[in-house]
Amino acid sequence: MNHELVKVCFRNGVFEECSMKPAIIFYSYSGITRRIAEKIQKECGGDLIEIRSKENYSAITAYTVGCLRARRESGDPIIPERIDVSGYDILVIGTPVWAWKPSPAINAAIKAIHGSEGKSAVIYATCGSQAGDTLAVMKKALAARNIQVTGECSFTRRETLDESRIKSLITMIKSLDPV
Ligand SMILES: Cc1cc2nc3c(=O)[nH]c(=O)nc-3n(C[C@H](O)[C@H](O)[C@H](O)COP(=O)(O)O)c2cc1C
Repeated sequence: MNHELVKVCFRNGVFEECSMKPAIIFYSYSGITRRIAEKIQKECGGDLIEIRSKENYSAITAYTVGCLRARRESGDPIIPERIDVSGYDILVIGTPVWAWKPSPAINAAIKAIHGSEGKSAVIYATCGSQAGDTLAVMKKALAARNIQVTGECSFTRRETLDESRIKSLITMIKSLDPV
C-alpha cells in the first residue's frame, strides 16, 4: 500500500496539513540499493526515479572504468539527463559504494537535479563492508548544489538484510519537517 506522508505544521500563524512527497533518486547496479528505494517508496509515497548509466557496465568494466571514475568523483552519461524535482518536498538519494565512493551514475544525477531550491535530502549508501568516503562525497556534491543533507545512513551487505535498519531510515525520512 502507498502512503502519502501528511504532517501537521505551523505556517503563517496557523496549523495546516503539509504533504511530504519525496523524490527517491537512486542508482543500482545489482538491485540492492533499488530494493531499499522501493521499501521507502512503499512506506513514504512519492516517486522512484531510477538512474541508468549509459555505460552498460559489465562485471569487468564496472571495476575498471567505473571504479576509476568513482575514485575521481566524476560522472557517467545517464538517463534521465535532467531530473526535475520541483514537484517534490524532499529528496532521498541512494547509491551503491564503488571504490569507497559514490557510483559515477549518482555523481552525474546530483549534477542533473533541477528545481531543488530550498529542499533538503536524505542520503543512503549500500556496500559490501566499507562505505569509505561515500556519504561525505555526496554531501559535498549536494552542498555545491545548495541542497542540505538532513539525514544519512549506510548499509553493509548484512545490514541490508536487517529490516529494522531499513525501518530506521524510513522513520528518519518520515520525521523530517516539510519546507
Ligand atoms: C564496481 C564495484 C565496486 C564496489 N566497491 C565497493 C567498495 O569500495 N566497498 C564496499 O564495501 N563494497 C563495494 N562494492 C559492493 C557494492 O557496494 C554493494 O554490493 C552494493 O550494495 C551494491 O548495490 P547495488 O546492488 O544497488 O548495485 C562494489 C561493487 C561494485 C560492482
